[in-house]
Amino acid sequence: METRVLPSSDEAIAEAARLILAGEPVAAPTETVYGLAADATNAEAVARIYEAKGRPSFNPLIVHVPDLAAALLLGEFDDEAQLLAKAYWPGPLTLVVPLRPDAGIASIVTAGLPSIGIRAPAHPVMQGLLRAVDSPLAAPSANASGAISPTHAQHVLKSLRGRIPLVIDDGPTHRGLESTIVAATGGPLRLLRPGPIQLDIQTLSSGKVEAPGQLASHYAPSKPLRLDAEQSAPDEFLIGFGAVDGDVNLSPTGNLVEGAARLFDLLHQADASARPRIAVAPVPAEGLGGAINDRLRRAAA
Ligand code: TXA
Ligand code: MG
Repeated sequence: METRVLPSSDEAIAEAARLILAGEPVAAPTETVYGLAADATNAEAVARIYEAKGRPSFNPLIVHVPDLAAALLLGEFDDEAQLLAKAYWPGPLTLVVPLRPDAGIASIVTAGLPSIGIRAPAHPVMQGLLRAVDSPLAAPSANASGAISPTHAQHVLKSLRGRIPLVIDDGPTHRGLESTIVAATGGPLRLLRPGPIQLDIQTLSSGKVEAPGQLASHYAPSKPLRLDAEQSAPDEFLIGFGAVDGDVNLSPTGNLVEGAARLFDLLHQADASARPRIAVAPVPAEGLGGAINDRLRRAAA
Protein backbone atom coordinates (compact mmCIF):
# COMPACT_ATOMS: atom_id res chain seq x y z
CA MET A 1 0.00 0.00 0.00
CA GLU A 2 1.27 3.46 -0.84
CA THR A 3 0.86 6.00 1.96
CA ARG A 4 -0.11 9.42 0.66
CA VAL A 5 0.64 12.59 2.60
CA LEU A 6 -1.68 15.54 2.01
CA PRO A 7 -1.20 18.97 3.57
CA SER A 8 -4.26 19.90 5.59
CA SER A 9 -7.04 21.42 3.49
CA ASP A 10 -10.75 20.93 2.93
CA GLU A 11 -9.90 18.56 0.06
CA ALA A 12 -7.58 16.50 2.28
CA ILE A 13 -10.31 16.23 4.91
CA ALA A 14 -12.85 15.20 2.27
CA GLU A 15 -10.48 12.52 0.96
CA ALA A 16 -9.78 11.25 4.48
CA ALA A 17 -13.52 11.11 5.18
CA ARG A 18 -14.08 9.13 1.99
CA LEU A 19 -11.42 6.57 3.02
CA ILE A 20 -12.79 6.32 6.57
CA LEU A 21 -16.32 5.72 5.29
CA ALA A 22 -14.84 2.99 3.06
CA GLY A 23 -13.46 1.31 6.20
CA GLU A 24 -9.82 2.47 6.09
CA PRO A 25 -7.94 4.02 9.03
CA VAL A 26 -6.40 7.45 8.30
CA ALA A 27 -3.80 9.42 10.29
CA ALA A 28 -4.78 12.96 11.23
CA PRO A 29 -3.52 15.50 13.77
CA THR A 30 -5.19 16.28 17.07
CA GLU A 31 -3.91 18.89 19.53
CA THR A 32 -2.13 16.13 21.50
CA VAL A 33 -0.64 13.67 19.00
CA TYR A 34 -1.48 12.39 15.53
CA GLY A 35 -4.29 9.83 15.76
CA LEU A 36 -5.05 6.84 13.55
CA ALA A 37 -8.78 7.32 13.03
CA ALA A 38 -11.42 4.80 11.97
CA ASP A 39 -15.23 4.76 12.04
CA ALA A 40 -16.07 3.58 15.57
CA THR A 41 -19.33 2.03 14.38
CA ASN A 42 -17.49 -0.24 11.88
CA ALA A 43 -15.80 -3.19 13.63
CA GLU A 44 -13.63 -4.24 10.68
CA ALA A 45 -12.41 -0.67 10.17
CA VAL A 46 -11.34 -0.61 13.83
CA ALA A 47 -9.68 -4.02 13.46
CA ARG A 48 -7.59 -2.46 10.67
CA ILE A 49 -6.21 0.07 13.19
CA TYR A 50 -4.77 -2.86 15.13
CA GLU A 51 -3.54 -4.50 11.95
CA ALA A 52 -1.73 -1.31 10.89
CA LYS A 53 -0.23 -0.66 14.33
CA GLY A 54 0.77 -4.26 14.89
CA ARG A 55 -0.52 -3.85 18.42
CA PRO A 56 0.02 -7.06 20.37
CA SER A 57 -3.25 -6.82 22.29
CA PHE A 58 -6.62 -5.10 22.25
CA ASN A 59 -6.99 -2.12 24.59
CA PRO A 60 -10.06 0.04 24.71
CA LEU A 61 -9.65 2.95 22.28
CA ILE A 62 -10.61 6.58 22.77
CA VAL A 63 -13.64 7.66 20.74
CA HIS A 64 -13.53 11.19 19.34
CA VAL A 65 -16.66 13.29 18.94
CA PRO A 66 -17.20 16.92 17.92
CA ASP A 67 -18.86 18.04 21.17
CA LEU A 68 -20.72 17.09 24.34
CA ALA A 69 -24.03 16.70 22.50
CA ALA A 70 -22.48 13.94 20.37
CA ALA A 71 -20.84 12.39 23.44
CA LEU A 72 -24.19 12.16 25.24
CA LEU A 73 -25.39 9.76 22.51
CA LEU A 74 -22.57 7.34 23.37
CA GLY A 75 -22.08 7.50 27.13
CA GLU A 76 -23.89 8.21 30.38
CA PHE A 77 -22.51 11.41 31.86
CA ASP A 78 -23.34 12.17 35.48
CA ASP A 79 -23.24 15.78 36.77
CA GLU A 80 -19.52 15.65 37.53
CA ALA A 81 -18.65 14.25 34.11
CA GLN A 82 -20.76 16.91 32.40
CA LEU A 83 -19.05 19.66 34.39
CA LEU A 84 -15.62 18.36 33.36
CA ALA A 85 -16.67 18.10 29.71
CA LYS A 86 -18.07 21.63 29.74
CA ALA A 87 -14.92 22.97 31.40
CA TYR A 88 -12.34 21.27 29.16
CA TRP A 89 -13.92 20.39 25.81
CA PRO A 90 -12.91 20.76 23.13
CA GLY A 91 -9.52 19.81 24.55
CA PRO A 92 -7.11 17.12 25.77
CA LEU A 93 -9.37 15.47 28.36
CA THR A 94 -10.78 11.96 27.88
CA LEU A 95 -13.71 10.91 30.06
CA VAL A 96 -14.38 7.21 30.65
CA VAL A 97 -18.10 6.85 31.32
CA PRO A 98 -20.66 4.01 31.21
CA LEU A 99 -21.39 2.95 27.62
CA ARG A 100 -24.97 3.56 26.50
CA PRO A 101 -26.55 0.31 25.31
CA ASP A 102 -27.82 2.08 22.20
CA ALA A 103 -24.49 3.79 21.40
CA GLY A 104 -23.92 1.75 18.23
CA ILE A 105 -20.16 1.55 18.90
CA ALA A 106 -18.39 -1.65 17.75
CA SER A 107 -17.44 -3.85 20.72
CA ILE A 108 -13.80 -4.02 19.57
CA VAL A 109 -13.57 -0.26 20.34
CA THR A 110 -14.26 -0.74 24.05
CA ALA A 111 -12.58 -4.19 24.03
CA GLY A 112 -15.86 -5.59 25.28
CA LEU A 113 -16.05 -3.30 28.34
CA PRO A 114 -19.30 -1.70 29.50
CA SER A 115 -17.54 1.72 29.60
CA ILE A 116 -16.25 4.04 26.88
CA GLY A 117 -13.48 6.63 26.72
CA ILE A 118 -14.63 9.78 24.89
CA ARG A 119 -13.08 13.13 24.05
CA ALA A 120 -13.85 16.16 21.89
CA PRO A 121 -10.50 17.19 20.36
CA ALA A 122 -9.61 20.86 19.86
CA HIS A 123 -7.77 20.48 16.54
CA PRO A 124 -9.50 21.94 13.45
CA VAL A 125 -8.43 19.02 11.22
CA MET A 126 -9.84 16.34 13.53
CA GLN A 127 -12.93 18.50 14.11
CA GLY A 128 -13.35 18.87 10.33
CA LEU A 129 -12.95 15.13 9.86
CA LEU A 130 -15.53 14.35 12.55
CA ARG A 131 -18.04 16.64 10.88
CA ALA A 132 -17.27 15.31 7.39
CA VAL A 133 -17.62 11.68 8.45
CA ASP A 134 -20.57 12.40 10.75
CA SER A 135 -19.72 9.36 12.88
CA PRO A 136 -17.63 8.96 16.04
CA LEU A 137 -13.96 8.15 15.33
CA ALA A 138 -11.88 5.67 17.32
CA ALA A 139 -8.29 6.91 17.29
CA PRO A 140 -5.24 5.72 19.17
CA SER A 141 -1.92 7.42 18.58
CA ALA A 142 -0.77 6.93 14.98
CA ASN A 143 2.39 4.97 15.61
CA ALA A 144 3.37 1.33 15.30
CA SER A 145 3.27 -0.53 18.57
CA GLY A 146 6.32 0.35 20.63
CA ALA A 147 7.22 3.49 18.60
CA ILE A 148 7.13 7.00 20.08
CA SER A 149 3.94 9.03 20.11
CA PRO A 150 3.72 10.89 16.81
CA THR A 151 3.80 14.67 17.10
CA HIS A 152 4.81 15.19 13.45
CA ALA A 153 3.50 13.62 10.23
CA GLN A 154 7.08 12.35 9.73
CA HIS A 155 6.78 10.30 12.94
CA VAL A 156 3.64 8.70 11.54
CA LEU A 157 5.37 7.87 8.27
CA LYS A 158 8.40 6.49 10.02
CA SER A 159 6.38 3.75 11.65
CA LEU A 160 3.26 3.36 9.48
CA ARG A 161 4.42 4.06 5.91
CA GLY A 162 2.99 1.39 3.62
CA ARG A 163 0.47 0.31 6.26
CA ILE A 164 -2.13 3.10 5.96
CA PRO A 165 -3.47 4.93 2.89
CA LEU A 166 -3.24 8.57 4.05
CA VAL A 167 -1.70 11.01 6.52
CA ILE A 168 -3.02 14.55 6.77
CA ASP A 169 -0.01 16.76 7.57
CA ASP A 170 -0.69 19.86 9.62
CA GLY A 171 2.78 20.27 11.10
CA PRO A 172 3.69 19.58 14.71
CA THR A 173 0.99 19.03 17.30
CA HIS A 174 0.82 21.62 20.07
CA ARG A 175 0.56 19.50 23.20
CA GLY A 176 2.77 16.58 22.27
CA LEU A 177 1.38 14.54 25.13
CA GLU A 178 -1.62 12.24 25.07
CA SER A 179 -4.83 13.39 26.72
CA THR A 180 -5.51 13.28 30.44
CA ILE A 181 -7.92 10.39 31.16
CA VAL A 182 -10.46 10.55 33.98
CA ALA A 183 -12.94 7.78 34.80
CA ALA A 184 -16.44 8.86 35.82
CA THR A 185 -18.10 5.48 36.04
CA GLY A 186 -19.83 5.88 39.40
CA GLY A 187 -18.13 6.37 42.75
CA PRO A 188 -15.21 8.75 43.04
CA LEU A 189 -13.63 10.20 39.91
CA ARG A 190 -10.34 8.48 39.10
CA LEU A 191 -7.34 9.82 37.20
CA LEU A 192 -6.42 6.99 34.82
CA ARG A 193 -3.67 8.76 32.85
CA PRO A 194 -1.97 12.06 33.67
CA GLY A 195 -1.74 14.41 30.68
CA PRO A 196 -1.87 17.99 29.49
CA ILE A 197 -4.82 18.93 31.69
CA GLN A 198 -3.64 19.06 35.27
CA LEU A 199 -6.70 18.38 37.30
CA ASP A 200 -6.47 19.03 41.00
CA ILE A 201 -6.21 15.50 42.30
CA GLN A 202 -7.83 16.62 45.57
CA THR A 203 -10.96 17.34 43.64
CA LEU A 204 -10.76 13.87 42.13
CA SER A 205 -11.94 12.07 45.18
CA SER A 206 -9.54 9.14 45.31
CA GLY A 207 -6.32 10.77 44.15
CA LYS A 208 -5.03 7.43 42.93
CA VAL A 209 -3.20 7.44 39.61
CA GLU A 210 -3.33 4.09 37.93
CA ALA A 211 -0.28 3.08 35.94
CA PRO A 212 -0.55 3.14 32.15
CA GLY A 213 -0.99 -0.33 30.80
CA GLN A 214 -3.06 -1.30 33.80
CA LEU A 215 -5.57 1.40 33.08
CA ALA A 216 -8.49 -0.61 31.98
CA SER A 217 -9.97 -3.57 33.62
CA HIS A 218 -10.27 -6.22 30.93
CA TYR A 219 -13.47 -7.79 29.78
CA ALA A 220 -13.41 -11.50 30.54
CA PRO A 221 -16.27 -13.97 30.16
CA SER A 222 -17.67 -15.41 33.38
CA LYS A 223 -17.27 -19.00 32.15
CA PRO A 224 -14.18 -21.20 31.82
CA LEU A 225 -12.61 -20.88 28.40
CA ARG A 226 -10.52 -23.54 26.62
CA LEU A 227 -8.13 -22.55 23.84
CA ASP A 228 -6.99 -24.34 20.67
CA ALA A 229 -10.10 -26.53 20.59
CA GLU A 230 -10.43 -28.60 17.41
CA GLN A 231 -13.88 -29.76 18.52
CA SER A 232 -16.25 -29.11 21.40
CA ALA A 233 -17.41 -31.20 24.34
CA PRO A 234 -21.21 -31.40 24.79
CA ASP A 235 -21.17 -28.77 27.57
CA GLU A 236 -19.04 -26.32 25.55
CA PHE A 237 -20.09 -23.45 23.29
CA LEU A 238 -17.50 -23.53 20.50
CA ILE A 239 -16.29 -20.35 18.86
CA GLY A 240 -14.90 -21.56 15.57
CA PHE A 241 -12.30 -20.07 13.24
CA GLY A 242 -11.82 -20.93 9.59
CA ALA A 243 -12.27 -24.64 8.87
CA VAL A 244 -12.91 -25.45 12.55
CA ASP A 245 -16.57 -24.55 12.62
CA GLY A 246 -18.48 -24.09 15.87
CA ASP A 247 -21.72 -22.72 17.26
CA VAL A 248 -20.45 -19.48 15.78
CA ASN A 249 -17.36 -18.73 13.71
CA LEU A 250 -14.97 -15.77 14.08
CA SER A 251 -14.36 -15.95 10.34
CA PRO A 252 -15.39 -18.93 8.20
CA THR A 253 -12.81 -17.88 5.59
CA GLY A 254 -10.04 -17.54 8.19
CA ASN A 255 -9.80 -13.76 7.76
CA LEU A 256 -8.08 -12.22 10.81
CA VAL A 257 -9.55 -8.73 10.29
CA GLU A 258 -13.03 -10.24 10.36
CA GLY A 259 -12.07 -12.43 13.33
CA ALA A 260 -10.80 -9.46 15.34
CA ALA A 261 -13.90 -7.46 14.44
CA ARG A 262 -16.20 -10.20 15.76
CA LEU A 263 -14.16 -11.37 18.76
CA PHE A 264 -15.85 -9.48 21.61
CA ASP A 265 -19.36 -9.92 20.25
CA LEU A 266 -18.85 -13.67 20.05
CA LEU A 267 -17.28 -13.87 23.53
CA HIS A 268 -20.35 -12.07 24.90
CA GLN A 269 -22.60 -14.42 22.92
CA ALA A 270 -20.77 -17.48 24.28
CA ASP A 271 -21.03 -16.11 27.81
CA ALA A 272 -24.78 -15.63 27.40
CA SER A 273 -25.39 -19.12 25.95
CA ALA A 274 -26.97 -21.96 27.93
CA ARG A 275 -23.76 -24.03 27.94
CA PRO A 276 -21.46 -23.67 31.01
CA ARG A 277 -18.13 -23.68 29.16
CA ILE A 278 -16.56 -21.93 26.20
CA ALA A 279 -14.07 -23.42 23.74
CA VAL A 280 -12.27 -21.51 21.00
CA ALA A 281 -10.75 -22.95 17.84
CA PRO A 282 -7.04 -22.37 17.11
CA VAL A 283 -6.31 -18.92 15.70
CA PRO A 284 -3.00 -18.49 13.83
CA ALA A 285 -0.44 -16.32 15.63
CA GLU A 286 0.59 -14.09 12.71
CA GLY A 287 -0.57 -10.50 12.18
CA LEU A 288 -3.78 -9.63 14.02
CA GLY A 289 -3.86 -13.22 15.28
CA GLY A 290 -1.28 -12.18 17.88
CA ALA A 291 -3.69 -9.69 19.44
CA ILE A 292 -6.61 -12.13 19.19
CA ASN A 293 -4.61 -14.84 20.96
CA ASP A 294 -3.41 -12.41 23.63
CA ARG A 295 -7.00 -11.49 24.40
CA LEU A 296 -8.11 -15.13 24.42
CA ARG A 297 -5.28 -16.14 26.77
CA ARG A 298 -6.32 -13.38 29.20
CA ALA A 299 -9.94 -14.48 28.95
CA ALA A 300 -8.87 -18.07 29.68
CA ALA A 301 -6.66 -17.16 32.63
O1 TXA B 1 -4.45 12.30 23.14
C1 TXA B 1 -5.01 11.21 23.00
O2 TXA B 1 -5.78 10.77 23.84
C2 TXA B 1 -4.71 10.42 21.71
C3 TXA B 1 -5.24 11.26 20.57
C4 TXA B 1 -5.11 10.55 19.24
O3 TXA B 1 -6.59 11.61 20.80
N1 TXA B 1 -5.31 9.14 21.75
C5 TXA B 1 -4.88 8.14 22.56
O4 TXA B 1 -5.59 6.96 22.40
O5 TXA B 1 -3.96 8.25 23.35
P1 TXA B 1 -5.09 5.56 22.91
O6 TXA B 1 -6.00 4.58 22.25
O7 TXA B 1 -3.65 5.38 22.70
O8 TXA B 1 -5.39 5.57 24.45
C6 TXA B 1 -6.37 4.73 24.92
C7 TXA B 1 -6.28 4.60 26.41
C8 TXA B 1 -6.23 3.12 26.77
O9 TXA B 1 -4.93 2.68 27.02
C9 TXA B 1 -7.05 3.06 28.00
O10 TXA B 1 -6.20 3.14 29.08
C10 TXA B 1 -7.92 4.30 28.01
O11 TXA B 1 -7.52 5.08 26.94
N2 TXA B 1 -9.32 3.92 27.83
C11 TXA B 1 -10.09 4.03 26.73
N3 TXA B 1 -11.30 3.53 26.94
C12 TXA B 1 -11.32 3.09 28.21
C13 TXA B 1 -12.28 2.42 29.02
N4 TXA B 1 -13.48 2.12 28.56
N5 TXA B 1 -11.94 2.10 30.27
C14 TXA B 1 -10.71 2.40 30.75
N6 TXA B 1 -9.75 3.01 30.04
C15 TXA B 1 -10.05 3.33 28.78
MG1 MG C 1 -0.71 5.35 22.36
